[in-house]
Amino acid sequence: MSIEIKPLELAARGSCPQEFSFGSIFSDHMFTQNYTPEQGWHEALISPFHNLSLSPSAAVLHYSQEIFEGLKAYRTPEGKINLFRPEENFKRFNRSATRMVMPEVAVDFHLDALQQLLMLDHQWVPDQQGSSLYIRPTMIATSPKLGLGASANYCHFIITGPAGSYFSGGLTPIGVYVADKYRRAVKGGVGEAKTGGNYAASLYASEEVAKQGFSQVLWLDAVEGRFIEEVGAMNICFVYEDKRIVTPALSGSILPGITRDSILKLAPAIGYEVSEERLDINQILADIKAGKVTEVFGCGTAAVISPVGKFSFQDQEYVINNNETGEVSKHLYDELTGIQYGTKEDRFGWVK
Ligand code: COI
Repeated sequence: MSIEIKPLELAARGSCPQEFSFGSIFSDHMFTQNYTPEQGWHEALISPFHNLSLSPSAAVLHYSQEIFEGLKAYRTPEGKINLFRPEENFKRFNRSATRMVMPEVAVDFHLDALQQLLMLDHQWVPDQQGSSLYIRPTMIATSPKLGLGASANYCHFIITGPAGSYFSGGLTPIGVYVADKYRRAVKGGVGEAKTGGNYAASLYASEEVAKQGFSQVLWLDAVEGRFIEEVGAMNICFVYEDKRIVTPALSGSILPGITRDSILKLAPAIGYEVSEERLDINQILADIKAGKVTEVFGCGTAAVISPVGKFSFQDQEYVINNNETGEVSKHLYDELTGIQYGTKEDRFGWVK
């Protein structure tokens, strides 16, 4: 299917501002296409960024049938634009689509649509250190009906916008509250799909802990309330004193993060052992207290690597590495962002 392009006049196009915060400014154009059972995906179009028109009865507004992705485009020192493992995002998009009873989008077509969009909006990829163009592919259910059931019609769109550090402190360690009362996702539910409801489910606890001065919530499994799953909207890794990096094994309620997967592949190549395990919060906190866990960090596309400086659990504080950024976190951050920005060898062929 070919993509129609209706660009803004050159004179009307904006350019990337010098200052921006995550997800608040959007580039000039967006990609859209629509799905019906009769026509499949059609009306593929790149056009100026605009509001969508939806019936107030559109299924997405009532039953949250929607999925999204998050990836980034990076400006290299030579001025080239790099994408990092975009096919992995598009494959996950399709797995999320299947779980949410939505149609898939062909991975090659998805990549082509994104590349054409980036060609038009290339001046929106920032070049300030640590900045990138955040890309948000999304699919929503558009059938106008209140009867509960999978929608017949869908809209798929891609918007992009310049992004600096996700957390204002960058690599400064964050304080994390271990959720004892609330759960994010349950095994058998939709926790491993990238669907808005998982994020909506996290908001109440996040607001509560923010009032107590914590940046993020550590989520435990919903069956036993004992096993570590995610931190905020990120996967989580623990570094042991022997420099072993351990992350919770995917359980069905954990998002299979692409940054997580990249760390599991990259870390052994730069001298760290890695493992995926079922991690009991009590054991981990005991290991922090005993000084065996020397670093903890969250990882995800938006935040890259975000060191955790302390946990609070049942009125006790557990400080990690004196609340300072550890050398393994920094090393992984440098190696990963080096590949993304084209300043380090792309030994896995991850950059497009
Ligand atoms: C990402 O890391 O890309 C995410 O989707 C997290 C989002 C809540 C910003």
